This record gives sequence, structure tokens and C-alpha cells, in this order.
Amino acid sequence: MGRSSKEESPVRTRPPVAEAVAVEELSTADVEVLGRLPWSSNATFLADLRRADGSLGLQAVYKPLRGERPLLDFPPGLYRREVAAYLLSSHLGWDLVPPTVERDGPLGHGSLQLFVPADFEQHYFTLRGREDHIPLLMRLCAFDVAANAADRKGGHVLVEGGRIWAVDNGLCFHSDFKLRTVIWDFAGQPLPEDVIAGLSLLRGEGAAEVLSPLLTEDEVDALLERADALLALGCFPHPHSTRAVPWPPV
Ligand SMILES: Nc1ncnc2c1ncn2[C@@H]1O[C@H](COP(=O)(O)OP(=O)(O)O)[C@@H](O)[C@H]1O
Ligand SMILES: [Mg+2]
Repeated sequence: MGRSSKEESPVRTRPPVAEAVAVEELSTADVEVLGRLPWSSNATFLADLRRADGSLGLQAVYKPLRGERPLLDFPPGLYRREVAAYLLSSHLGWDLVPPTVERDGPLGHGSLQLFVPADFEQHYFTLRGREDHIPLLMRLCAFDVAANAADRKGGHVLVEGGRIWAVDNGLCFHSDFKLRTVIWDFAGQPLPEDVIAGLSLLRGEGAAEVLSPLLTEDEVDALLERADALLALGCFPHPHSTRAVPWPPV
């Protein structure tokens, strides 16, 4: 964040926060940019949220449209995909993506996501070793297949206490198949009940309603088709090609 190691980290720890509280504060509080996040490929900022009464609230990750690095295969507006990923995860009841809203900030329109005070020493490759993480990582694996995550690196899987979070979801929901992820450990294993229940939920009207303000009709249709295909397969897929894993993996 451009600070010397002598300076204190701007990151504040906090107890876990309820989803509704986070969404409310992300939607209404003032955004004060603290600095750019390390390892970000776009202009991605850590921000403090200041409540109406002047008190310091939660911390957030602010991704303004203006800071997006243009890509050949995705249109501008990656921040909308960040919001869509949260809404999908919330709709499924999987709670894998930190609360994320679309809003204006000091650098213009973009996404604002709850900053998770994670143990940043951990990532997918350390987390997969723990038995109690497996059901959550299986959910994430299914989420990424359905959402068509094109860049699920190990460092985008965070742990906060017993919870697993997936961040950096801007490269999801393309209508062309682009799955690229480090999570292939479950290939060939049957989908667990909760994953089947979640994917089946997508058959209803609700998901399209929630996502259509953020994604194109083709993108929503493709999501529902991928979810159906995964249900029909009944197990986690195998890597499809040498391009199935992102580089660098963490
Ligand atoms: N919600 C979050 N909570 C905590 N840390 C986060 C969050 N989002 C991103 N980060 C951290 O910031 C880094 C950069 O964010 P990332 O989403 O990868 O930005 P970019 O879209 O610019 O690549 C991530 O690798 C992760 O370590
Ligand atoms: Mg990134």
C-alpha cells in the first residue's frame, strides 16, 4: 500500500459481521480510500467506511470502473461481475463471497466489498489440508464451475475463523466456457447434497431476476446451463485442458 514496513498496517481486525449489517453499511457509509491493495492487478483500494454519525465502521475493497485494466475478452464493468458473484452466492445460501454492492465512491462508480480480516498466510493450497474445510471448498468448486470463474487463484480463497471466502470474482460469468481454477482436487467425486440443492435452486426464476440487472441475457442463460450440466454430470468435473489452471497458481 505504498507504506514503509515501519508504518502500521491500515488493516483493522474485527469480529465477524452479519451479512445484512455489512450490506447496509456498504450501501450507505462514506468511503475513505486508504491506499491500493498489494497484489491487485487493477486499481483496487482498501477503504474505511465512515458512518453518518462520524464513527469509523467496517473496511471495504473498492474497485472503481475507472481503475479497471482493459481486457480483450471481457467488456469494461468487471465490478458488476463482483456484485453478481456476491448475489449468486447469497441466493444459493452458500455465503462464499463477501457482501458486495455497486455504488459511487471518491474515484467514481464501482464495487464495494466487505474487507475480510483474513489470515493472509493461508490460501487454497494450505486450506485444503483441513478436513472441516472440504465441504466449503466443494461448494466453492461448484460455484466456480457454475459461475465460469476464469481466474480462481489460490490466493483468492481466504479464511476468516472457520469461514472460507472467495474474492476477486471480476472474471466470472462469461458466456463462453473459460473455467480456470486451482480447485481440481474433487474431480470425479459425487456432488454433495448441499451442492445439489443449491444448483437445483437455480432452476427457479429467482436467480435470473437477481442477476439480470448486472449480466447480459446470454450470460444468465449460460450460467443456468452450466449449473444444469453440472447437476446432470452428478460429480465434480476433471480438468479439461492445460489451460485449466491459472498462472501463477497463488
Ligand atoms: N474482500 C476482501 N477482503 C480481504 N482481502 C481482499 C478482499 N478482496 C481482495 N483482497 C486482497 O487484495 C488482493 C487484491 O485484490 P483483487 O481482488 O485480486 O484485485 P484485482 O481485481 O485488482 O486483481 C487479493 O489478492 C486479496 O489478497
Ligand atoms: Mg487479482
